[in-house]
Amino acid sequence: MLAATPPMGWNTWNTFGPDIDQDLVVATADALVSTGLRDAGYTYLVIDDAWMAPERSDGLLVPDPNRFPMGMEALGEEIHGRGLRFGIYSCAGTHTCERLPASYGHEDGDAATFASWGVDFLKYDYCYTAASDDAVKLYKRMGQALRATGRPIVYSICEWGTNRPWEWAASIGAHMWRTTGDIFDTWESVADIGFRRQADLHPYAGPGHWNDPDMLVVGMRGEGHVGRGGLTEAEYRTHFALWCLLAAPLMIGADVRSMDEATAELLLDADLIAINQDPLGRQAHRVSTLGHGFGEVWAKPLEDGGWAVGLFNTSDRDDELLSIGWDQIGMHNNQAATVHDLTSGVTTAGVSRSYGRRVAVHDAAVLRITPEQLTVG
Ligand code: GAL
Repeated sequence: MLAATPPMGWNTWNTFGPDIDQDLVVATADALVSTGLRDAGYTYLVIDDAWMAPERSDGLLVPDPNRFPMGMEALGEEIHGRGLRFGIYSCAGTHTCERLPASYGHEDGDAATFASWGVDFLKYDYCYTAASDDAVKLYKRMGQALRATGRPIVYSICEWGTNRPWEWAASIGAHMWRTTGDIFDTWESVADIGFRRQADLHPYAGPGHWNDPDMLVVGMRGEGHVGRGGLTEAEYRTHFALWCLLAAPLMIGADVRSMDEATAELLLDADLIAINQDPLGRQAHRVSTLGHGFGEVWAKPLEDGGWAVGLFNTSDRDDELLSIGWDQIGMHNNQAATVHDLTSGVTTAGVSRSYGRRVAVHDAAVLRITPEQLTVG
């Protein structure tokens, strides 16, 4: 199955916007390997908007010859040669959001072009469509065109959640769908998209089809195309922990050629990635909120019968004591469980009823709770 777990990778847009070229792509491919990100699972290197020439050539989409002189097939080989997968971008309208040629009316030909370049992933946007266009029809058309190529291509749709894609996207062959407009590198944007806008979407995610709360801004620190002041270290931890619990595609947006240590450590956190990639493929749901927006507790069932739990302090002022009760995740209060507090590294066996800890302002703690065998008595 394609995208049996949430796709992981890197995308040009958040840092570079339309300012991209083949050297950036090759250098990033190298960095994904040398930093260990590829081996941690980040394998899709996606070239977002603005790779194409301003005009089609003989009816075909072609890369901008100044910025991609080697051509996309050769660039795809560079990417594949480094053990990565090749992602590209087009749009369901007549033009991309950057006003470059897009796939409306060219779906079959463009899908064939992408397949001939060795593309493994298509992000498909929704700019320059007409009000009379039917999103489901347009996305279905490209879905069929991709399938007709015979090449396994992850289909990532991006109509910003406008037409409730979680209700239909999987049935037209999409593997992931954006649930909102664009993310920015601010706490308000991350908190709004991550907490508020995902709360009802967990029933729609599963192996092969995922809600996409947009790419990561982890480590951008206010720089780059969607950089807007940046998040604190605690807030980036919350962002990454929440996206992992949401079973969200993990598409890095920061410049991985120059990541600082804290960013690399967070993006490479094997415990959090394991929660994101858990084969059961369930998305966390919100189990409780602390009054006045002070805290949120989210839980995600895991394949081993346990739970991943996120304790999030969303208050702006104080540490908060946040806890999860066994009854909130369907466990009997007497059930003994082992709690791995992944954030502190502390493991506690024989815990019953609930587990709580203090969490700092805008920070997160992630727990892995594994039921132990019931003891009699
Ligand atoms: C937006 C999309 C962004 C990026 C941009 C490119 O519609 O949400 O993620 O792809 O277009 O122009």
